[in-house]
Amino acid sequence: MSVPSQLSSTETLSLLSLSLACFGIIANTFHGDGEPLIASLAFSGIAFAASFSMIRWLGPTFMKAGLKGKDMSKVHKKEIPETMGAVCAVVYLLLIIMFIPFPFYKDIVAATSGGGNRDVVLEIHVVETGRFLHRFPHSKLASYLSAILSLQSVSILGIGDDLFDIRWRHKFFIPAFASIPILIVYFVDFGVTQIVIPTPLQPYFGELFELGPLYYLYMAAIAIFCPNSINILAGINGIEVSQSLVIAFLLVLNDTLYLLAPYPHPATDSHLFSLYMLLPFIGVSLALWWHNWYPARVFVGDTYCYFAGMVFAVVGILGHFSKTLLLLFIPQIFNFIYSSPQLFRIVPCPRHRLPRFNARTGLLEPSVTEWQHPPKPTVATVLKGLHKLHLIRVTTNREGQIIESSNLTLLNLWLVWFGPRREDRLAAEIVALQVVCGLLGLFVRHRLALWIFRSDNLTV
Ligand code: UD1
Ligand code: MG
Repeated sequence: MSVPSQLSSTETLSLLSLSLACFGIIANTFHGDGEPLIASLAFSGIAFAASFSMIRWLGPTFMKAGLKGKDMSKVHKKEIPETMGAVCAVVYLLLIIMFIPFPFYKDIVAATSGGGNRDVVLEIHVVETGRFLHRFPHSKLASYLSAILSLQSVSILGIGDDLFDIRWRHKFFIPAFASIPILIVYFVDFGVTQIVIPTPLQPYFGELFELGPLYYLYMAAIAIFCPNSINILAGINGIEVSQSLVIAFLLVLNDTLYLLAPYPHPATDSHLFSLYMLLPFIGVSLALWWHNWYPARVFVGDTYCYFAGMVFAVVGILGHFSKTLLLLFIPQIFNFIYSSPQLFRIVPCPRHRLPRFNARTGLLEPSVTEWQHPPKPTVATVLKGLHKLHLIRVTTNREGQIIESSNLTLLNLWLVWFGPRREDRLAAEIVALQVVCGLLGLFVRHRLALWIFRSDNLTV
């Protein structure tokens, strides 16, 4: 498939109308208290339109700059633009910066004398303190700005990785540094470092368990895990963006449950913040998805994987729902644990572990890693045991020594279990798995949790 760099006239017209409608909506939100959620939706529409057209226009420019990759699972391994996630990240960051005044519109109006209260007779303390700015929610602004800072840092890491292919062990911990701004805001704003003990264990450990500084380590670990785990559940068209979209939609669903609660919920602000971050993310991701789904016209690059993972880490940490977040990452957690023998080099790890394309059948098969030297006896016994359990596929020579083993990724395991299949079918099945696991996770979070915790914070 060629890589058209122009928008068709239908596309231009649709994107233009969408943008105009969104601008109209934004202009109209400056009434009363302002309607930041509606403005955020309109910003997301603009995010979609802007990323969609820029991905199209910038494709050839990226290729010329060397930002391109070979689509390995096709008969003609054509080169297509890579690092398109950078376009999304930049559009997202600019829009989220432009959005800053909106959630604070009401407070700005109230805190300065511009809100129709010019006739109010100023009392002496107001004269002394100038305006009412002490009432301005500086802490919310701090959350917002720290989120932007963390996302910017991680986008720079992603772009660096796409440009220079940074080694895994070097880039692994960088998201932890990028998360420092949000951890500081968490420290000042929430400072909650206790976890609730499940009811059956409360007689032994008490109601709450103080994790102290370990809680910050745990949050830094989330910031490392989310970006990296998306980056390694990758390698077939559309999978990186699709999994991120599913997680984002499920988080939005979770946020909406809180907003629709029939009473003012104490966590409403956190979930509103999460929506402000997620809606434009969905906007840019849908535009990328359009171009990255099978047959891909662009690749997302590591930039997108890091950026997407960090968006989730940021909302999970600042929204104080990191455990719920992890329930939406079940396939990624499995893939990470399953991959660990290769990540820690107990099993050899080739540069690419994506499924192998069989040009004769047009189907994907599990890819393998070759053992130059036979594995140590203990490793060999474990691998053969896993082979018997159908958790891996190994090939042995006549002497019974392992010469090949399938790469340890969820995608390859799926192919071991269910046999070779087309690239788009594999992607669709893994996305379906993500949806099912995520919905199950949310169900567990809000329903089954009541069996082991005294209350779910949605039911007071
Ligand atoms: C991670 C994985 C690697 C996997 C790669 C695929 C680990 C430790 N690393 O590496 O095993 O092979 O992602 O993204 O698990 N590509 C396709 N089709 C696609 C997407 C990517 O052919 O749909 C190929 C392209 O050649 C593209 C390249 O993968 O250029 C991108 O790989 P990159 O993101 O740089 O790999 P890593 O993230 O380092
Ligand atoms: Mg990658």
